[in-house]
Amino acid sequence: MGFPENFLWGGAVAANQCEGAYQEAGKGLCIQDVTPHGIVGPRTKEPTEDNMKLVGIDFYHRYKEDIKLFAEMGFKVFRTSIAWSRIFPNGDEEMPNEAGLKFYDDLFDECHKYGIEPLVTLSHYETPLHLAEEYDGWINPKMIGFYKNYVTCVFRRYKDKVKYWLTFNEINSILHEPFLSGGINTPKDKLSQTQLFQAVHHEFVASASAVKIGHAINPDFKIGCMVLSMPVYPLTPNPDDVIAVMEKDHMNMFFADVHVRGTYPGYVKRYFKEHDIELMITEEEREILKNTVDFVSFSYYMSICETADKSLGVQGKGNLLGGVRNPLLKESEWGWQIDPKGLRYVLNTFYDRYQKPLFIVENGLGAVDKLVTGNDGNPTVEDDYRIEYLRDHLLQVAEAVEDGVEVMGYTTWGCIDLVSASTAELKKRYGFIYVDRNDDGTGTLERYKKKSFYWYKKVIETNGESL
Ligand code: BG6
Repeated sequence: MGFPENFLWGGAVAANQCEGAYQEAGKGLCIQDVTPHGIVGPRTKEPTEDNMKLVGIDFYHRYKEDIKLFAEMGFKVFRTSIAWSRIFPNGDEEMPNEAGLKFYDDLFDECHKYGIEPLVTLSHYETPLHLAEEYDGWINPKMIGFYKNYVTCVFRRYKDKVKYWLTFNEINSILHEPFLSGGINTPKDKLSQTQLFQAVHHEFVASASAVKIGHAINPDFKIGCMVLSMPVYPLTPNPDDVIAVMEKDHMNMFFADVHVRGTYPGYVKRYFKEHDIELMITEEEREILKNTVDFVSFSYYMSICETADKSLGVQGKGNLLGGVRNPLLKESEWGWQIDPKGLRYVLNTFYDRYQKPLFIVENGLGAVDKLVTGNDGNPTVEDDYRIEYLRDHLLQVAEAVEDGVEVMGYTTWGCIDLVSASTAELKKRYGFIYVDRNDDGTGTLERYKKKSFYWYKKVIETNGESL
């Protein structure tokens, strides 16, 4: 099995989905603290007790125990995010909150104790609430300054502890979930396309500024973009469907294109013209965009179909980009269609397009797990379905490596059970480690190793040979 030497095997989480401690040590509120139902239900004015994210899996207090378990599996890398509102509680302060900085110092030290390299997302769906309410999030150009202040602060502080950085989680999801992804308070149906794409532009400028600032602080930093990848297949061989696929792809690829090429592509300029979208872009901003990323990272969960004939396609459920159901694929309990070969396809597509190193920073199966008593008398989960899902996907990564694609690493999503982003449930579990916490708030928060824990340990130990 051809995984490269030094392949970065590991797992991924995000602060708001696991840390809890939502008001501890000076942390300010973030948009997740008022979305108890994820993207599917209404927002609340204040944090409410039914919001699972307020406690999460209590990673804030238990990270030492958890990182020890990751080390036992042999993780080389651990992806997490910095909760912006721990460092700048409102987001627009000039001076950071020392207690927040100290927390991540300790967390990164703990990783290094086991030789685990942190991979840090600077903004993972957790904009400080104040920035959403006071400034309307990324619609406002002032956000660029707040973000630059924040990233400068953490780049300086962790310059010897963190090498790999991601600027925005799934940056392309802002077109679909402006509040979650862009902290945009204005309701989606009241937003004009110009406002939405202006917000995208502000994020591009912020992201490219982060690359510039980061490289000046430590030239060894590797700074990547992070996009939600989703291969789009034509529902039929009708050329109109193929063109519909191309256009859908453009709206996704646009994000990585700007990050890698440093300029707006022609197809998007056409789209802007045809939709009366007029953006304010200064010359200085065009220059900033030329600070392109070192690598491209992405999440991969599923593929979708597209058709020009809207009466034909059945809309699939799924994560943020929606799409038409593929009649040939099975789906998860949450309706996400399972397509391991799509991962090889996506890796090849990105590599052919960019010739940049790629990092798969999210992939995994959200499923309902059942605790049973294991042979050693401890609670466990016989999660063969998860093993099968991950094995099938990893085999396709190996195929892509054979195809000549440069893959830096692979971090499974939710390597320890955490709160779902889309539905804010805990019963949608992704982990190798079971966390005893239920959606009604009951549970001891104890951690138990699932069958997949031992399976992944072996995969890492053999650098993929055991697959
Ligand atoms: C990605 C996000 O969209 O998918 C994660 O970056 C999220 O934050 C993951 O958790 C899985 O989605 P969900 O809704 O099952 O948690």
